[in-house]
Amino acid sequence: MSDKELLVTKINNGTVIDHIPAGRALAVLRVLGINGSEGYRVALVMNVESKKMGRKDIVKISGRTVDEKESNLITLIAPNATINIIKDYDVTRKMKMKIPSVIEGLLKCPNPSCITNNDPEAHTHFFTVSETPLLLKCSYCETIIDEIQVMKQVL
Ligand code: CTP
Ligand code: ZN
Repeated sequence: MSDKELLVTKINNGTVIDHIPAGRALAVLRVLGINGSEGYRVALVMNVESKKMGRKDIVKISGRTVDEKESNLITLIAPNATINIIKDYDVTRKMKMKIPSVIEGLLKCPNPSCITNNDPEAHTHFFTVSETPLLLKCSYCETIIDEIQVMKQVL
């Protein structure tokens, strides 16, 4: 990337999530549970040109690394995202993740009579039944949710 194109500076330590579909940077932060009150320095770049994707978003979080479980969740809403772990300004790890086979806790089941909406102790549990298009099935009531529903819930 040339200096002309560099909207935000390189970070010292933390995580850079690149190649996010345009407009989904906020959803990525949401999946990570970051809302700003934690105090991390966060830079968002939205709707910038990308050779591979037309337009893309980038999220840079200083002082916070992203683990494998979080990376898998990011993949749900940003299937081609690259997750770069930065130490002393160098990329020390580049994760390209797969869509998880099981998603626990993050999503709500849309079925009002599902046990997960009635028992306060129950946690949601979805299986991935298809990756493209994304389709997830509730393990309790078998309700299926698609990518649009996932996005609506995450945003
Ligand atoms: N980056 C950063 N701070 C650093 C190092 C890298 O913000 N100290 C950012 C870069 O700007 C880029 C991403 O992290 O958005 C990945 O860096 P790098 O692997 O150097 O870039 P590319 O070779 O373009 O990676 P790829 O094509 O795999 O996305
Ligand atoms: Zn259910």
